[in-house]
Amino acid sequence: MVTTSTPTPPSPETAAWHEALDRRRTAERADRLERDPGQPELSRRRFIARSFWTGLGVALVGTLGGAVDYLYPRNVRGFGGPFPAGNVADIPRGAAPREFRNGQLWLVNLDPAETRPGGSGGGAGLLALWRRCPHLGCAVPWNPTFDFDGDGGGWFRCPCHQSTYTKAGVRVHGPAPRSMDTMLIEIDEAGAITVQTGERQNGGDDNPSRAVGHPLLPT
Ligand code: FES
Repeated sequence: MVTTSTPTPPSPETAAWHEALDRRRTAERADRLERDPGQPELSRRRFIARSFWTGLGVALVGTLGGAVDYLYPRNVRGFGGPFPAGNVADIPRGAAPREFRNGQLWLVNLDPAETRPGGSGGGAGLLALWRRCPHLGCAVPWNPTFDFDGDGGGWFRCPCHQSTYTKAGVRVHGPAPRSMDTMLIEIDEAGAITVQTGERQNGGDDNPSRAVGHPLLPT
């Protein structure tokens, strides 16, 4: 035997509460449409989806931003960035080039009076040379006793394939396609030298003219 039960009608209080709730929803909807008639009503599903994607976007931006912030180079002090290379007072004019291994560079105070073939080429002042050979990348040493073509006053001489360069890094011999590359030099008022090792210029016969002067540079 199947029995059915008649639904119990809501109490007057419950019915009145439902009516009040409906009135309130209708009023809110009308209010929204009045404020922005062109804007469709935001359904609950769309609201949740929009919140989800917004949250995901914020999380991704935060993660990527953190990674970029971590990887961004700051205060790089070595090869590839600004490299402190002492003071101009410590680099006598015409002396042998001075090596800064961590900066991968040679610093030389060219003396225009050093007119020998392996000398300054007429340049005067500080010149920073990248020690990487333009041929295949070997580190080029300064050889103070090497005699090239009758000039025994010292040369840059690559040990790999014997490319040979003057004190100003000008190529005179060997398979290197050009002279030694130069780096940008900055000198402050007190004579402190900073070599911008990331700012390099292909070497050329004009290397001597790239030397920079300074009032405190020994003459
Ligand atoms: S790498 Fe210097 S001459 Fe070849």
